[in-house]
This record gives sequence, C-alpha cells and structure tokens, in this order.
Amino acid sequence: MRLSAAVLTLLLLPAALAAQAGKFPPDTLINTKVFPHTTPVTQVIGAMRNFTSDLGVRCQFCHLGEEGKPLDSFDFASDEKRTKQVARQMMLMVREINRRVDTLPRAGGVALQVTCGTCHRGVSRPAPLFTVLGDIGTTSGADSAVRAYRALRNRYYGRAAYDFGESSLNIAAFRLGQAGKFDEAFALLKLNEEQFPTSSGLAVFRGNISLMKGDTSAAEAAFRDAIRRDSTNNEARGRLRAIGRP
Ligand code: HEC
Ligand code: HEC
Repeated sequence: MRLSAAVLTLLLLPAALAAQAGKFPPDTLINTKVFPHTTPVTQVIGAMRNFTSDLGVRCQFCHLGEEGKPLDSFDFASDEKRTKQVARQMMLMVREINRRVDTLPRAGGVALQVTCGTCHRGVSRPAPLFTVLGDIGTTSGADSAVRAYRALRNRYYGRAAYDFGESSLNIAAFRLGQAGKFDEAFALLKLNEEQFPTSSGLAVFRGNISLMKGDTSAAEAAFRDAIRRDSTNNEARGRLRAIGRP
C-alpha cells in the first residue's frame, strides 16, 4: 500500500507541476512548504514582492525564469535554485525570531515584527561594509577593494544597505593590517582620506597599522598628524609616549 502511494505521488507530481506552467498568477499553490496550501495566491505574491524589495533582487534570483520574459514563463514551483532553498529556511528562521520577539517585555503596546528587510536592508547577502571590503582586499587585492568601494558607494549611498561613514574603511584597513595585508590596508586608508581629509581618528588608524608593519617613523608621523588635526586627541599622545617619541 505504502509503496504504491509513493509511486502514485511520483507519477502525479510532474503532471501537477506541468499543469501550472503558463499561467500567472497561478490558480493554486503547488510546492509550498512554509505557506499552507490554502493561503490565497495573492497573499503569497505579496510576500514575494516584499522579498524582492527587502533583498534588492528580482523573482529570478530564487526562481527559474529569464530576465525580461513574462512571469507566466517562470517555473515558480521548482526548488532547483539554492537561493530558494535558503529563502525557505530564512522564512522559518524569521518565524522563530518573531515567536521569540513576542515574549519580550516591552514598553507601550506597539507590536514589533522582524522581516527579511530587518537584516537584509536591500541586499541579498547582508554583511557590514568593512567585512565585504576586507574579504575583497584579502582575496583580490587593493585595487579590487578600492573599485568595489566606489561601486558600492555609487549604488547604495543614501540607502540602508551599507554604512559609508568614516569608520567602515578604517575598520576594513585595520583588519587587513592584522592579516599582514599592508598595501591593501593603506590603499583603503588613502581612499578614506579623500573623503575625510581632516579626520584625526583616521590618522591614528594609519599610525596603528604602521606599527603593525613595524614602521615606527611612519607611525610617529601619523600620530603627530592626528594631534595636528585635533589637539585634544589623547589616544595619539598616548601612542607617541608608548613608542618613546613623546
Ligand atoms: C528570496 C527568494 C525569493 C524571491 C526573490 C521570490 N520568491 Fe517566490 N518563493 C520563494 C520561496 C522560498 C517559495 C516557497 C515558499 C514555501 O515553501 O512556502 C516561493 C514560492 C513562490 C510561489 C508559489 C509556487 C508554488 O509552489 O505554487 C510563487 C507563485 C512565487 N514564489 C512567485 C514569486 C514572484 C512572482 C516573485 C517576484 C516578484 C518571487 N516569487 C520572488 C522564494 C522567493
Ligand atoms: C536575522 C537576520 C536575517 C533575516 C531576518 C533574514 N536573513 Fe536572509 N540572510 C541573512 C544573512 C546573514 C545571510 C548571509 C548568509 C551567508 O553569507 O551565507 C542571509 C542570506 C540569505 C540568502 C542567500 C543569499 C545568497 O546570495 O546566498 C537568501 C536567499 C536570504 N537570506 C533570504 C531571506 C529571506 C527571504 C528572508 C525573510 C523571509 C530573510 N533572508 C531574512 C540574515 C537574515
């Protein structure tokens, strides 16, 4: 009995999948594992539109289909794409998070809800800018990291996706320095200087990375730069004392 039921399912499934191709929006849901099968299709499509804006992608990021082709040529039921499989896990994760969030003691009665956008903020792989640049600097070198920064800034400045404030490039440079990637680190600091030419804190980063490199003279010059830019920078003073050049 069991076996024949399984065989029957196997035989019927492709037919059901094929029956859906060519109609958008579909009449029924075929292969949803998180949305109950009785969920109105319009509600599912509404959720899908939220996915695309939260992740800054289009339907074909997760579904089989071609850019520019009508949606009725897409195979939305297929689980072939890895990203769709990840998205399904993410849906379950978000459900778990919200269950936990509901237990928080909160002031006021405002319901808090975590969505895909809470983390993703318009990009498909959410990560701090310093992590993105540190990874590119490590694997592809200084020029690639600088190019990537400019491209990301052009595309995302003013959006919530990445922090283009002063600290991102400083932190990326610091981490590259810790990994012994000094050329890459200094290239990112130089880029940051273009935007924050009077920053005292940036000069301290330059000094600290010079120390990592073992270049005490460059470090001294950088710490003096920091004090010139801001005479109240006690961190720079402390550094100068620490290297015996107060
Ligand atoms: C980030 C990934 C992602 C994006 C982008 C996305 N989807 Fe989906 N979609 C999914 C997942 C995951 C499911 C399955 C949900 C489940 O298992 O309950 C799904 C299911 C569907 C279904 C139901 C398929 C079935 O089995 O009947 C339709 C229709 C659909 N998506 C349409 C769209 C449309 C239209 C877009 C673009 C506006 C879109 N999706 C964008 C991940 C995505
Ligand atoms: C708690 C934070 C968080 C929430 C909420 C969240 N995500 Fe993610 N998501 C991540 C992180 C972090 C990654 C990157 C994982 C990695 O680098 O491999 C990721 C990766 C993904 C990816 C893979 C992207 C790729 O290119 O490999 C997809 C697809 C995705 N998320 C979909 C969703 C969807 C859809 C939702 C809402 C249902 C969602 N995520 C909610 C944090 C989150």
